[in-house]
Amino acid sequence: MEIHQAKFVKSSATFEQLPSSNYPEYGFVGRSNVGKSSWINCLVERKNLAKTSSTPGKTQLINHFLINGSWYLADLPGYGYAKTSKKKRSTFAKMITDYVLKRENLLNLYVLIDSRVKPQAIDMEFLEFLGVKAVPFTILFTKTDKLTQKEFSKNMKAYQAAILQSWERVPHFVHTSAVKGRGRKEVLGHIEEMNQMFSKS
Ligand code: GTP
Ligand code: MG
Repeated sequence: MEIHQAKFVKSSATFEQLPSSNYPEYGFVGRSNVGKSSWINCLVERKNLAKTSSTPGKTQLINHFLINGSWYLADLPGYGYAKTSKKKRSTFAKMITDYVLKRENLLNLYVLIDSRVKPQAIDMEFLEFLGVKAVPFTILFTKTDKLTQKEFSKNMKAYQAAILQSWERVPHFVHTSAVKGRGRKEVLGHIEEMNQMFSKS
């Protein structure tokens, strides 16, 4: 799929403020600093559409982008950043759970997980929550450009083992790098298929 248009729509602090749910939508969630905003920019080949930062906690609202005038990408705040105040963390948690459970046009959630670190309890718990609630999702392992092949294989094995503690099978995943564009075509192809299903339903 070619991206010929990518437009910022709005920032929302609560579920009620979200733009109307008239287009197929894909949400991007994950821990703070995992690379959600960078990945959105990579996907649509725009450098600064979504604001990124080397300091965690950059995205604090749900930001909607309309792509090719026909589908939405939603950039969410990160979960679980220890240095954010307790109040803010629980506000973000509510924003994320409300969004995930109630957004009608959400066709797939992309859960970004940092490939450089060991499996984190908060990510495993979030995946379990999605499983229990039957929310369709894909895991995107991020920042794969930062690892040697050996480190990468070791980490992927650890993730597989951690995931299989609560899942019968490993859910759908893609290896990505926002810097190298790794995984971009695969994810866009997947989105294109889902867009077609949405227009037929
Ligand atoms: P919050 O909005 O704070 O939750 O963070 P985020 O998940 O949106 O992360 P963001 O895209 O702002 O990126 C965080 C940092 O990681 C930035 O310094 C990015 O340049 C860097 N980064 C993101 N993706 C990649 C990647 O694929 N490879 C490398 N090497 N760095 C990346
Ligand atoms: Mg962000």
